[in-house]
Amino acid sequence: MSSIEKIKALAERQNALVLAHYYQSLDVQACADKVGDSFALAKYAKDTDAEIIILCGVRFMAESAKILSPGKTVYLPAPLAGCPMADMVTPDDVLLLRAEHPDAAVVCYVNSSAAVKAVSDVCCTSGSAVKIVNRTSERDIIFVPDRNLGGYVAEQCPDKNIILFAGYCPTHHKISEQDIVNAKAACPGASALVHPECRAEVRKHADYLGSTAGIIRRAEDLYAAGTRDFLIGTEIGVLQILQRDLPDANVRSIGSAFTCPNMKKTGPDDILACLNGEREPIVLDAEESRRARLTLEKMVEIGG
Ligand code: 13P
Ligand code: SF4
Repeated sequence: MSSIEKIKALAERQNALVLAHYYQSLDVQACADKVGDSFALAKYAKDTDAEIIILCGVRFMAESAKILSPGKTVYLPAPLAGCPMADMVTPDDVLLLRAEHPDAAVVCYVNSSAAVKAVSDVCCTSGSAVKIVNRTSERDIIFVPDRNLGGYVAEQCPDKNIILFAGYCPTHHKISEQDIVNAKAACPGASALVHPECRAEVRKHADYLGSTAGIIRRAEDLYAAGTRDFLIGTEIGVLQILQRDLPDANVRSIGSAFTCPNMKKTGPDDILACLNGEREPIVLDAEESRRARLTLEKMVEIGG
C-alpha cells in the first residue's frame, strides 16, 4: 500500500480530516482531503464534523484549528514547523501598543500565536485583511505583526490610520524591487501575481496582489482568457501548483524560486505518525483559547 492509500484508509477509519496549505509539498497536498489558504483552512476546521483534524502547515494554523474547534483533536504533523513572522510579536508588544493608542482597535494577522490573538480585537488573513479593517469601526488600527501586509492594508484603506508593527516574513521580504523589475523585463507581457507579504517596492510592480488562493484563482482566470506567461511572487508551492495545473503556460518565480523552510518540514510519514498515535495533539491554555476564539470567529464571520 502507498503512503497516500494508508493515510486515506486510516483517516476514514478514524474520522480524521487532513488539511494542507498550498505551500506544502505536492506529495503532502496529494494526501489531503482539502488544500487551501489560511482563511479556507480556518473555515474547514470550524465547519468539519470530523473528530480529528491533521493540519499540514505551520503551528499557528494548527493552533487556529484547535481554537475554532476546541472539542476536536488537532495535530500539527511536523511539531517544529513554526512561522518566524508569528514569533516576532508577543502579547506584551500588543499591550504596549494598546497603552500608547487607547482608541485603536487591534487587528492581528492570523500568522500569530494564540496568546497574541487573545489580546487582539479581530484576526485577519491576507485574503480578508482589507475587508476586515474596512469593517472595523475604529479609525485607528494597530496592525500586527506584518508591516508589509499592514502597509498594503493602509494603501487600500485610506480612511484608516494604520499603526504598523515591525514584523515581516523572511521568505517574502527577501524579494527585491530589482528582482521583479528584472523578471518583468525578461518576460514582457507576463502577469505578475504577488503576495501582499512582499515589500511595498515589489508590490507596486504587481498586476495583482492577493492571498495564495487569490493568486491561484487569478492565474486560472487569466489562463482561461488566454494569458500564458505568469510571474509568481510567493512561495514555491504555489508556483508548482500552477506549473502542474496550467498546461503549456510559462509560470516562473520572481527572482529565484523561494521556499518557506518551515512549510517543507512535513512529509507523508508525519501524517501517518499522527494517525498511528505517534504525535502529541495541540493543547492550549483554556482561557487564552476562549479569548482567541472570539477574534477568529469574528474573522470567519466578516471575512467570508
Ligand atoms: P495565505 O493566507 O495567503 O495562505 O498565506 C499564508 C502565509 O503564511 C503566507 O506566507
Ligand atoms: Fe510564515 Fe512566511 Fe512561512 Fe508564511 S511563508 S508561514 S509568513 S515564514
